[in-house]
Order: sequence, then structure tokens, then C-alpha cells
Amino acid sequence: MKLYINHTYTYQSQHISMLFFSRVDILDIKEIGEDAVYITSEITPVNGDVIISARVVERGQTFGDETMRVEAGDDKAIKYAISLTLFKILSKYTGKRPSWGILTGVRPTKRYHALKYQGMSKAQIRTYFETHDLVTPEKVDLLEQVSAHSYAHIFPMDDTKISLYVGIAFCPSKCVYCSFTTNIKDKGDDVIEQYVGAVIRDIKLHAARYKDKSIQTVYFGGGTPSMLTGEQIKRIDDALRCHYNMNDLEEYTFEAGRPELIDDALLCALKAIGVTRICINPQTMHDHTLKAIGRTHDVAEIRRAFACAARYDFIVNADVIVGLVGETVEESASSLSEIIELSPENITLHTLSLKRGSILHHRLDDYEVMPENDVRRAVTLGHQMLLDAGYVPYYMYRQKYISGNLENVGYTKKGCESIYNIQMIEERQTVVAFGAGTTSKFYNFDDDILTRQHTTKNISEYMK
Ligand SMILES: C[S@@+](CC[C@H](N)C(=O)[O-])C[C@H]1O[C@@H](n2cnc3c(N)ncnc32)[C@H](O)[C@@H]1O
Ligand code: SF4
Repeated sequence: MKLYINHTYTYQSQHISMLFFSRVDILDIKEIGEDAVYITSEITPVNGDVIISARVVERGQTFGDETMRVEAGDDKAIKYAISLTLFKILSKYTGKRPSWGILTGVRPTKRYHALKYQGMSKAQIRTYFETHDLVTPEKVDLLEQVSAHSYAHIFPMDDTKISLYVGIAFCPSKCVYCSFTTNIKDKGDDVIEQYVGAVIRDIKLHAARYKDKSIQTVYFGGGTPSMLTGEQIKRIDDALRCHYNMNDLEEYTFEAGRPELIDDALLCALKAIGVTRICINPQTMHDHTLKAIGRTHDVAEIRRAFACAARYDFIVNADVIVGLVGETVEESASSLSEIIELSPENITLHTLSLKRGSILHHRLDDYEVMPENDVRRAVTLGHQMLLDAGYVPYYMYRQKYISGNLENVGYTKKGCESIYNIQMIEERQTVVAFGAGTTSKFYNFDDDILTRQHTTKNISEYMK
């Protein structure tokens, strides 16, 4: 679809339009011919105010219009009016009703919690989301459920606690949907050893700044941290414990990830350093899909990894993706049902996102992607199956290019929620990250401001 704007709020207008069309290009006025079909978003000054309008034009005919009058110079009100007018006209024109309304950000629960923290009641917050942001009642239900299982981990905030993240940028193969920073290597490769050295250098380098802080959670993620040997993991842990105050550590997660790398040697090493939570990520329980997405394990390997982990008393998380290539709604549901039977404490239900940096996005014609309506059905079904099995949603986030404009949701058996995941999404705690392609987040309690600091994605540069 084409979009004509006569203002500079390009990001806002394009993102709202993209809720309705997979591609939206900005149109120059000179390109508008008699048979053009396009959306307009315009600002017209009127006696100290501005009129914001949105229309759809089809070959010279206007398909209705939406207008709002706001004070000139009120940037926030102008952005809101641009979003609302575009959303309303495009809903009418396409018949679509995007469930998150005009919210295009990745963290709706952060907004929910800010309102709750300000003292608004549950009913007032519901009204706000439904009428101001046009979020559907079902999604507000989800926000309420997530908040019920996460709010107490966020508030009251505690300035003395921070979390640490260690990013291991290596994997045994590349999954077709993935756009994370990672390098394909064999376990034991020399470059991994050099990388461990650089991570330890980083851990020491920043320690002085946090000498008064207590570490609440540690998270090894990636990539695939189980590409490290037990000895390398121990050295990193030694560096963390030597340079940071981990006396009151509440949670220690290691994203073991790929089932084929999970064995007794790894799990014993994790137990020995005090890891409390691990991730074993099936993504699906269908061999044909695992092959299609580039995983180098099969379903039997997933079952073996779960059986192995059961001997060590970790909290186990299982990542699942709904909408994977070549899968039907029924296959997605049967996959989830098998994972529920394995009984991990946490299940994270992701919705496939066609990330721009992924193989999938570049070779879309080679794959059969689940239609958006099916993805919506599969996610709704999955949500209900998890509730029926006694899991509750406790954190959620959205992503760019996410199928069906949906969300990723972390479910947990009651009382087993991951504190790190909640803190990471809510962004009210400092998280210091080590490793290539990682992001540290510094939260300033006094003025409620978050600053991010990224490291290079290039491991050679990182190791210099
Ligand atoms: C940071 S990734 C790393 C996990 C680990 N390396 C693994 O793949 O087992 C965490 C999770 O995000 C999900 N994920 C990654 N890319 C995705 C995509 N394009 N769409 C939906 N979910 C995705 C997968 O479920 C994955 O397990
Ligand atoms: S999804 Fe995980 S295992 Fe697959 S390439 Fe990405 S980081 Fe590596």
C-alpha cells in the first residue's frame, strides 16, 4: 500500500498502516496519478489548533475520512491523533481489527504497570486500554493475568539489586527464523576459548562500578551457552563470583537451548556452580518441522534431554514457536500438548516473527508460512491449553514483524516465574551484559530513565 503524508510523523503513520498491510511505502505527491490507491494522513492548521485527518483514496474516490482537532504544538496529542485517525479509517476500509489497537511498542505490560503504579484501579486501566488505545478486551484480559503474576516482582523497586547477562554468541547451526548475533561453530573450537577470555576480561573491567550492588539474577543466554565446556562455564562463573556480590542471588538461569548439547557432563557442571533454572528448547515436537527450520536435533533428542534434566532438580523452561513453516494449527496444538506432558515448570510460547535478518525472510518463497488467521487460532488454542494444564502467563512482549500482530508469552506453573524475564521486559532494573551483540540497560531510579549500551556484534572486534 502507498501512504501520502504532509507532515514529519513518518514513523507513527507507517507503523499504524503496517498493522493492516504487510508493506507500506511513502508516496510523493508527484507520483499520485488518477488510478492511484493510497492512504493519506494530513495535518491542517486552523486558528491555533490543527486538524488531523486520514483518508483512503481509490482512483480519485475518497473512502470516508477520520478527523480530530488538537492543539498545535502538542506533540503527544498530534501523534496520538495521527495513530487514531489512521487506525479507524483502515479498520473500516480493510475490515481488520488489530487486537493491540494503536499500541505498536513491544512492552504493553510496562504501560499497564506504569498506570497501576500511579494508583489507577483495574477497571480504570481496562477502560484506558480499551478506549484510549483500542486494545481488545481479550488482550486486556491477558495484561491483567500477566500483571497478577509479575507485579510483586517489580514493585517495590529496589535500587540495591541488579542482574547480570552473559551472552554466548555461538550455535551449532543456524535456525532459519533467527536473527540473533551468533556464529556457527563446533563445540571445542579455539575461537570459543578466546571468546571466553574476552568475556572474563569484560566481567572484571566493569566490576568496580557495581561494588555496592547485590546481584539478584544471572542469565547465560545467546546464542547457545551450552557450546561452552563445563570448565569454561566454571571459569566465567568464578569471575562473576569473584567480582560481584552474588551472596543473595535469587535465580541463576543457563539457556542450555539445543537439546543435542544437553548431557550429564553439562548438567553436573551447571549444578556445581549453582544454576537453578535451565532452558531446553524444543520449538516444536515434529521432526519434519525441526528439519525444515535448521535444527540439528530430532524429537527423540528432546525427550532424552528432558529425561536427563529430570535427574537434577532444575526449574526447566521450554521454548515453543507457533506458526512455524509447514505446520498446521492441529500440529501446533499436538506439539504443545506433548511439551505439556513433559511438564516443564515454564513454557514460553513464541509467535513466529519474520525477522528481516533471518534466512526465512530472505527465502520466503521456499517456505510455506502458516496463514495469519491460523496463527491466531493456534495461539488462542495454545493459551487455553496452557491455562487448562495449570500454567499462568507471567511475562509477555511483542516483536516487529510478528505473525498476526500477536505476542510472545511466558507461562509458568504457579510460583516458578523467572524473575530475570520479568525484570528484562519491565526495564526497572539495571542489567549489565557481557559478550558480543549484547545490550546493557542502566535504569536510573531517580528520574525513571533507561539508557542502553550495545556491544559490537562482530566477535573478532569484541575480542580485540
Ligand atoms: C534468544 S533465542 C535463543 C534460544 C536458543 N538459542 C535456542 O534456539 O534454543 C530464544 C527463543 O526465541 C525464540 N525465537 C527466536 N527467533 C524467533 C522468531 N523469529 N520468531 C519467534 N520466536 C523466535 C525461540 O523460541 C528461541 O528459543
Ligand atoms: S534460535 Fe537459538 S539456536 Fe537457533 S540460531 Fe538462533 S540463537 Fe542459535
